[in-house]
Formats: sequence, C-alpha cells, structure tokens
Amino acid sequence: MAELDKQQREVDVPGDWTYASAPESRDIVHIADRYGYFVGGEWLEPAESYETIAPRDEEPLAAVGQATPEDVGRAVDAARAAYADGWSSLPGSERAKYLFRIARLLQERSREFAVLESLNGGKPIKESRDVDLPLAAAHFFYYAGWADKLEYAFPNRRPRPVGVAGQIIPWNFPMLMLAWKVAPALACGNTVVLKPAETTPLTALLFCDVLRQAELPAGVVNIVTGDGRTGAALVESEDVDKIAFTGSTEVGKEIQRRLAGTGKRLTLELGGKAANIVFDDAALDQAVEGIVNGIYFNQGHVCCAGSRLFVQESIYEPLVAKLERRLSTLRVGDPLDKNTDVGAINSAAQLEKIRELVAAGVEEGAEIYQPPCVLPEKGYWFVPTVFTNVAQSHRIAQEEIFGPVLSVLTFRTPEEAVEKANNTPYGLSAGVWTEKGSRILWMAQRLRAGVVWANTYNRFDPSSPFGGYKESGFGREGGRHGLEPYLEFDE
Ligand code: NAI
Ligand code: MG
Repeated sequence: MAELDKQQREVDVPGDWTYASAPESRDIVHIADRYGYFVGGEWLEPAESYETIAPRDEEPLAAVGQATPEDVGRAVDAARAAYADGWSSLPGSERAKYLFRIARLLQERSREFAVLESLNGGKPIKESRDVDLPLAAAHFFYYAGWADKLEYAFPNRRPRPVGVAGQIIPWNFPMLMLAWKVAPALACGNTVVLKPAETTPLTALLFCDVLRQAELPAGVVNIVTGDGRTGAALVESEDVDKIAFTGSTEVGKEIQRRLAGTGKRLTLELGGKAANIVFDDAALDQAVEGIVNGIYFNQGHVCCAGSRLFVQESIYEPLVAKLERRLSTLRVGDPLDKNTDVGAINSAAQLEKIRELVAAGVEEGAEIYQPPCVLPEKGYWFVPTVFTNVAQSHRIAQEEIFGPVLSVLTFRTPEEAVEKANNTPYGLSAGVWTEKGSRILWMAQRLRAGVVWANTYNRFDPSSPFGGYKESGFGREGGRHGLEPYLEFDE
C-alpha cells in the first residue's frame, strides 16, 4: 500500500478518489402538507394529526392522521362493503387485471416512490431504487398470476377468500411490506385495511394514488395511519376476519393473546437473530460481501439480517481483517445520494435502542471496531460496527439490535456451528458459506430457520416463501405458500 501511495504521488494523477456528491432530485415527488385516511376510495379528514419527518435531517415532511377506533371502524366497514359488493365474487381473471395494473403503475412511478421511501425512511436511494421498488412491483406481478389459478394451486380443495384482512406493517421496508400483504390478499379475493408504521406512512399514502389510477373498486384497499393504538384498534375490530402482522416479537405476542379464542386468522412475521456461518473453504472475499450485505443493508433494519457471524476458527483472523478493511470503505450519509451505502437510522427511538445495546456489548466485554467515519450533524446516524470476542451469553449475541451492528463468534466443527446457530429464541433465516454442496445441504437440514441462503444473503424473490420458526412467528409470505393465509377451503 505504502509503495503504491508513493508511486501515485510521483505521477500527475488526482490523489483523492472520494466520491463527489450525487444526490437524487426530490422534485419528482409531490408531498402534500397533510394527509387523511383512504377509506372507501375517498379521503377522510383526521381529527388528530402528527408530523412525519425525514430521519436524515429531522425535516418535517407532512401532517399525517392518528386514526381512532372509530376511523378504523369506518375503514373496516368500507372493506366489508366492497367485499360483499362484488370483489369477492369477481372472477380471478378480472382481479388479476387490477393487480397487473398496479404492478405496471409501480414500475412506471418507481423513481418517485423510491425517492419518497428514502426521504421518509432513511434508506439509501440505491436500495429503494434497486431493491424495494422492483421487488414490490414483482410481488404484484407474481400474485396477479395466481389470481385465476387458485384451484390449480390447491387441487381438489375449492379455495375461497377469508373476508376482510387487517394488515399491520413495519417501517423497515414500507412499500415492500405493503406489497407482501396487499398482493396475495387481493389475488385471493379479500379486501384490506392496511396500517403503515407511524414513522413511514408516506409511500403507502402515495400508493392510494396508484389505486385510483388502476381504478381499483372503492373500498377494496383502505389505508389508515397512526401509531400502535391504531394498530390495536384494527386487531380488536369485530368485523376483521384475519390479521397479518410484521413487526416486533413483543407486539406480535400481544396480538396473539388478543386474538386467542376469537376465531380470527393470524399470521406473524417477527424478529430475528440470524446466523451467517462461514466455513474455512469458503471464497472469503465473496463471503465478506455477503456478510456486509447481510448486516449493513438498510442500516441493519432487517428482520432476517445476518447479525451473528459464525467464523470457523482457522480463518478467523484473515476474515476479520478483510471485513474491517471492507467496513472502512462503506459510505455513510445522505440517503438520497446515489453513492450512499448506509443511510440514516429510521427514528430517534431506534437509534436509542441501538446505542443501548452497543453500550451493553462494550460493558459485557466484547471488543468493538468502528471505522473512521464523519457523520452528518443533523438527523439519526450510527457508524457500522463490528464486535469481536463475543460470548454466546452477551446481549449483543442474544437480542435483536436492528441496527448496523455485527457480532462475531467462532466455531470449530459443523456440529458446533449448528448448535450455536440454533441457540436463539428466533428462527427466521440463516446463511452458509462453503465450497461444499453436501455441507450446504447438511447444514440447511439442521438449521432451524425459515430461509437458509447458501453462498449469498438477503436474496428475495416473490416465488420463494418467507417466514419463521419459534419467536420469529408463523405463516409464510411469498410463493404459493403465501396464498394460504388468505384462503378458506370447502372440504
Ligand atoms: P412495533 O412492533 O411496535 O411496530 C410494528 C408495527 O406494529 C407498526 O405499524 C406499529 O404501529 C404497530 N403496532 C405497535 N403496537 C401495536 C399494537 N399494540 N397492536 C397492533 N399494532 C401495533 O415495532 P417498533 O416499536 O417499531 O420496533 C421495535 C423493535 O421491533 C425493533 O427495534 C426491531 O427489533 C423489531 N422490529 C422488527 C421488524 C421485523 O421486520 N420483523 C420490523 C420492525 C421492528
Ligand atoms: Mg413498538
């Protein structure tokens, strides 16, 4: 390196290769001053509002309604009316046309949605542009394809819709989670009341304009905004037939308690503490990219994030050295800058939680590494962090941090890797890095995780089911499996 530096100084070339700023223009998206609730195809005025902000600089973006139980009741009534008034009995091929239209419109307006997603949520534009929006559109395309084939998906079982679905989503993938919830529900003939997360309501509200363009019948999709109280009102609403929830394990358990004995259907997609396991025969540089993608993608606000790295002892030192070197090249900053790798933390509350757990890691004796990094002055930021010397009992090895923080542990044998990886109350995902195909299969059979990635990480496709074991929840989203929660069967 030093030799290279010297040579560079001798020749007449620019020495500074830092990226010039390349911000995406926000002019493409229009944000209203205030928003109401989208109910029965119309906008209802909220009685009470709160301000939604941009986490990159705390700029107020819009006033958004805090829906009361009465507002939620109106939305559920609208969904029920639309269900009874034709949507549930519409031929699947007709429902499919609406879903195809929504998918096309999302593609056409994807840049607008991506800018708004990054502005309101803090994720880098290159992720919202290249991952969130393309996958959201792909989800609508995929389930449009199933709408008229439900009888082939479940031969001899005569599927019919469940009714009105109440759907509560989190702030880490606002549009993608909306698509995961809304697309299969509509494909199966249900109607929907959706509540986006309180910190990221704006893309769901913009989606109402896509519904208008697609001429979706009024009341088929209704959107109410607000915090956990609005979510709780939706869960408690008498006339909802099914609840689909993605969020914290704590709230998921609470919802399960509330619904026990009511006969309402429930699916839960909750937290995770995934193991990303690297064997000594793995392609190390490739593995480092997978580790970085696994934990620093979307600031680590990912339920399936590879937050526990298990490294085979013989390659521990070279791997950690490569990882730390790679970390120092990550660009942290403005989510709207096209060169940004790690954006803003979604909220002050989430930043507080990350800080608390990182402090606990230091306190309990793990060794912390953070690359030199200049953070913007305003807004919510956290430097990408690696902990080494982590013990299984440390809080940073047990609890979901949901931030850009990796805990590194070691193992000697495949058996030990499996035992340590499964030593968690969660079971959403895992990663395995090895040259050996038979070892991948051996590991995948033993890891208690809904998804096991091999020599890759965080790879998604609408045709592949996703969901957890244990405290990561139950039910599957995506694929043919993702239809089942939205269907009843006459048998
Ligand atoms: P949360 O579970 O409170 O929020 C998720 C959604 O549930 C939001 O729309 C929220 O308004 C709603 N909600 C909150 N309380 C509710 C209730 N009693 N009844 C019905 N709906 C309710 O998650 P929060 O507080 O935003 O994040 C806390 C932690 O949860 C994070 O630090 C992370 O560890 C985990 N989390 C996991 C997610 C995942 O994708 N599995 C997503 C978001 C958070
Ligand atoms: Mg909460």
